Amino acid sequence: MLTGFRPTGPMHIGHWFGNVMNLVRLQEDHEAFYFLADWHMLTTHYDRTEELPENVRTLALDLVAAGVDPNRVTFYRQSDVKEVAELTLLLGMITPLGWLERVPTYKERLRDMAERDVANFGLLGYPVLQTVDITIVKGELIPVGEDQVSHVELTRELVRRFNRHYGDVLVEPRALLSNAPSVPGSDGRKMSKSLDNTIDVRDDEATIRRKVRSFITDPMKVRLGDPGRPDICPIFALHRLFSQDIYEWTRENCSTGALPCVDCKTNLADRIVAYYAPFRDRREELERTPGVAEKILADGREKVGPVVEETMKAVRTAMNLA
Ligand code: TRP
Repeated sequence: MLTGFRPTGPMHIGHWFGNVMNLVRLQEDHEAFYFLADWHMLTTHYDRTEELPENVRTLALDLVAAGVDPNRVTFYRQSDVKEVAELTLLLGMITPLGWLERVPTYKERLRDMAERDVANFGLLGYPVLQTVDITIVKGELIPVGEDQVSHVELTRELVRRFNRHYGDVLVEPRALLSNAPSVPGSDGRKMSKSLDNTIDVRDDEATIRRKVRSFITDPMKVRLGDPGRPDICPIFALHRLFSQDIYEWTRENCSTGALPCVDCKTNLADRIVAYYAPFRDRREELERTPGVAEKILADGREKVGPVVEETMKAVRTAMNLA
């Protein structure tokens, strides 16, 4: 099993419930490879490389504090594995342009980042690089969100094409979709850094409280005592994740109008603060140990090395290369 994380900024509770908790569970009974996809970050943020070292370090520590266990998982940084670049070049030789131009995320990025000049070779090749991430460790199961399914599909086609040309060398993976709920942000849309509607897992108590207060609620619940519609309210969606103890009570008292939104938000903020307290302690403890992220990633690089070498030897032999 393998998955990657682009180090583009702070981890928020959408990542936490949408993805990270699932990966912490999956590491228990799979041979797991988790890595930080810093080269992938460059496909859109090539002009912000000064942010890279700190983003890599904080994401590594966030994942470990969240429960990713580097003793269990092979946890490494993509750019530490230079063979990934070699195999990307080789796979590029047999990747039809049309396949890449059709990928929905490519078209979305071009549209959403129209002002940022990302129409580059690197961005077009994003799924080739992702194919390499997967195949270089012989990944079979790829836990990803819905948005990544087209990339895994392309990986499968590319693996078949490679194997047709050069023999049965690469392993064909499949996507493992989690049934995690999509977490709404403060504006009711999907929580996302680019929409500036997140609560970050490392936010301090005051920030969490301020952000929870800023959430939209049912627009029909205007005056005190108005009945609310919990099922369309993003605050209630978050109660589902954080407030087992008062979940049904909240539904009931929102629907009758007895529970004012201000109080409902305070209840939620209390629970988010308490939920992340152990995470924050572990995170601070890691932060106090100098060089811990570097050490973890260096160990991961050691562990992944032989796996990568084995694949590359087979590829070079199959392609008659040195
Ligand atoms: N594209 C993935 C994302 O944006 C990150 C990623 C890079 C990845 N390489 C991967 C995920 C390989 C799974 C497998 O979230």
